[in-house]
Amino acid sequence: HFTNYELHGLMKSQPGGFLLTNGYARHAKEISRFQPRSDDVWVVTYPKCGTTWTQELVWMILNNCDPIGSKAPLLIRSPFLEFPYMIPVNTVPQDHTMMLTLDKVEKMPSPRVIKSHLPFYLLNPKLLDTCKVVYIARNPKDVIVSYFYHHKLIEFHNFTGDVEKFAQYFMDDELLFSPFFPHIIDAWNKRHNPNMLFLFYEDLKKDLLGEIRKVATFLGKSLSEEQLTGLREHLKFDKFSKNESVNMEMVRKLGGINPDGHFIRKGKTGDWKNHFGPELNQRIDEWIEKNLSGTDLKFTTEL
Ligand code: A3P
Repeated sequence: HFTNYELHGLMKSQPGGFLLTNGYARHAKEISRFQPRSDDVWVVTYPKCGTTWTQELVWMILNNCDPIGSKAPLLIRSPFLEFPYMIPVNTVPQDHTMMLTLDKVEKMPSPRVIKSHLPFYLLNPKLLDTCKVVYIARNPKDVIVSYFYHHKLIEFHNFTGDVEKFAQYFMDDELLFSPFFPHIIDAWNKRHNPNMLFLFYEDLKKDLLGEIRKVATFLGKSLSEEQLTGLREHLKFDKFSKNESVNMEMVRKLGGINPDGHFIRKGKTGDWKNHFGPELNQRIDEWIEKNLSGTDLKFTTEL
């Protein structure tokens, strides 16, 4: 089901480690040595957990909800650290504005909002001693569905199977940035670090304003009531999915994107119920239970 995965040489970062591309492997050292600044904020996530939503939230708070500045593409306002090294050479021209290579990120003015899907152990070991990190997690059932559609959307993945096959790849840790649980549990175990804020996608769905306040407090910023409610409106799914500076629709120009899908797809908790039959659901429940045993981490799978 993954002809391109072989083509692009997906490989584990170490035995039992994370599945990444050999383009990444060639730059892994530079990426892990990339120096955070004390006034950076890093948004670190497993894919499809609400990264884009959180990046925009953090950027807006740090930039006083700047209505003009926020019209620039989020891809440029908030660089994706490992991205230029993950994609196959020549897919995107090297001088493209999206290619925010480490040397360019190094020169960006403060405060930088840096996105990464890498687990902490592949990032600078001093990250949490140096700057603030916002980590967002989401229940694995909805992540499976969201990542499935993402694989259908991006032709690079060339995934031709159905959601059931995809769920099995997910549980077998055979997808880019897998495995899911070690990524999230490692962050969960760091949640009491004063430089770390651990959020759940489902909490943003339940109480967006409350979570915006929480992030603002964490970042030491105070927003007026008007800014807070304005930001809540700005971040609501219907508005967000139509906002061209965040919805990635501009990336279509580069090609390799399936015309039927969207990056900001459905934005629901519990969409897994429309995709998993009882047998698959039970298999996933058992896999979740096994992986959460010994931790006090709990996921919300419906609201
Ligand atoms: P779905 O595929 O379930 O719709 P990431 O940014 O980490 O790739 O996460 C993408 C997921 O977050 C997608 O989930 C997307 O729709 C959802 N998302 C993005 N913006 C959102 C918003 N403003 N409100 C709710 N969900 C949002």
